[in-house]
Amino acid sequence: MRNFNFDTVSHNGDSTTAAAPYPYLDTVLLHSFLPTGRETLEAWRAMELFVPHRIRQLGICNVSLTQLHALCNSVRIKPAVVQNRFYQKSNYDCDVREFCRENNIRYQAYWVLKKNHHLLDSDLVQELVRERGVSREAALFFLIQRGLGVAILDGTTSVEHMRGNIADLEKLTSWAAETTNGERLAWLGREFERSLGDMEFLQGQ
Ligand SMILES: NC(=O)c1ccc[n+]([C@@H]2O[C@H](COP(=O)([O-])OP(=O)(O)OC[C@H]3O[C@@H](n4cnc5c(N)ncnc54)[C@H](OP(=O)(O)O)[C@@H]3O)[C@@H](O)[C@H]2O)c1
Repeated sequence: MRNFNFDTVSHNGDSTTAAAPYPYLDTVLLHSFLPTGRETLEAWRAMELFVPHRIRQLGICNVSLTQLHALCNSVRIKPAVVQNRFYQKSNYDCDVREFCRENNIRYQAYWVLKKNHHLLDSDLVQELVRERGVSREAALFFLIQRGLGVAILDGTTSVEHMRGNIADLEKLTSWAAETTNGERLAWLGREFERSLGDMEFLQGQ
């Protein structure tokens, strides 16, 4: 919240303005746990004071399953969002993602491109690129979103890349919506999840 002022939040385009007389933020994230549990709870409780009027929901970043569990058990307003690194070293956060699924918490992945060159080069991604004529970045985003039910944070600084990703994801989503592709999609999802499992296994060798 450093350097942040609610007065700078615009009302423009806010369809709920009539119901909400002041500006609000959709989500505020605590960047990580603080050095002690006491400090973390203190920060969280300070954020809770603004929910739901100034802040609609709260989230936490860079958490382990143990930390997330502890937080959920100790606070009044549970996290609605978890924002974590998605990479091989953390076994793709399988345990945290499962906890999020079970507790209706939105899991958002970052480092999807930066730390997953092996996935971008994988057979499954390359297959989708050839078959659907999309970029490998969009193909990987799609497999993660559809296969794992994870939201992607796209860190591009390029308008061209962002436009391309959106167009390719729309293309893939339309293709996925065609009922005749159900079996192919289910296979892709299973294979993708299995490939992550294989990588976890190999990493332990
Ligand atoms: N909560 C946290 O603690 C935390 C920590 C880190 C990041 N984040 C957030 O996560 C988001 C993602 O950032 P990230 O660091 O994980 O980056 P990322 O999405 O894994 O990678 C972005 C990098 O990939 C390159 N790239 C090449 N082709 C691309 C394409 N087609 N589409 C997108 N990128 C392409 C980008 O270059 P170009 O710019 O040239 O496209 C950029 O260098 C950001 O919004 C960031 O703020 C959150």
